[in-house]
Amino acid sequence: MPKKDSTKKTLLVALGVCFVASILVSTAAVGLKPLQEKNKKLDLLKNILSAGNLYKEGIDIEKTFNEKITAKIIDLKTGETIPESKFDDELSIEKFNINKLASSSKWGTVTPKSNNDPGLKRIPKVMAIYTVMKNDKIDKYILPIYGKGLWSTMYGFIAIDKDLHTIKGFTFYLHGETPGLGGEVDNPNWKKQWIGKQAYDKDGNIKIEVIKGIVDRSSDKAKFQVDGIAGSTLTARGVNNLVRFWLTENGYAPFLNKLKGDKNG
Ligand SMILES: Cc1cc2nc3c(=O)[nH]c(=O)nc-3n(C[C@H](O)[C@H](O)[C@H](O)COP(=O)(O)O)c2cc1C
Repeated sequence: MPKKDSTKKTLLVALGVCFVASILVSTAAVGLKPLQEKNKKLDLLKNILSAGNLYKEGIDIEKTFNEKITAKIIDLKTGETIPESKFDDELSIEKFNINKLASSSKWGTVTPKSNNDPGLKRIPKVMAIYTVMKNDKIDKYILPIYGKGLWSTMYGFIAIDKDLHTIKGFTFYLHGETPGLGGEVDNPNWKKQWIGKQAYDKDGNIKIEVIKGIVDRSSDKAKFQVDGIAGSTLTARGVNNLVRFWLTENGYAPFLNKLKGDKNG
């Protein structure tokens, strides 16, 4: 008899502990969600600032972002800005989510065929882009880029100077490539090389490429080339394809050409 009682009690205590623990865990999860969302947003802003060479340890990220950067959403096909009146449940600057938009029937599309296949089934028809201001004038544009590496989808930003062909910054903020191999895409020394490289030749043809091996600095082509990553040809090829994809006709070329037209006429 007492044995039966104690089994029951043990079970009750165990269930009670489980119940209390589950309440605590779910309360913490729900309670911490806003903080997690805020940190995620801050991390994104920090990465945009990094691509624009505007991030330093200890700065107020949100304040710096608001002072120096304006965000807008463009239609990739036309290069035109999407007015806020067209924003909806899926589309807004605050909620901009590349993957959600890519899979949306309204804002996404099957990835067009390209010589530079980014390895993505679908992409958004629209992108949030960031303009960096300096002394009240446009200094550069920070453009989101993404595509497949060897193991993962790599997400980053490329900054293009107001001259519309010089690369001013390059960063990946999310990827799942192997640390020490493909993961070197976010090694500051590797990213640094992109700065000053030319994305296009003077006729506007895409020229930037990640080569296999080390760039011959004395070559005429050096200004268009970035070193490969030792032992990681496949990740490097992914970066090459995704950068060239996003800087050509299916990505930002209509937007950049429109700016060129505005500048010249
Ligand atoms: C455990 C492991 C992880 C690897 N991770 C990567 C990687 O993240 N990116 C990559 O391009 N290659 C990675 N590789 C190597 C590829 O399989 C392939 O050999 C390499 O990309 C070829 O590059 P290479 O011609 O420069 O040697 C990995 C290999 C192993 C065994």
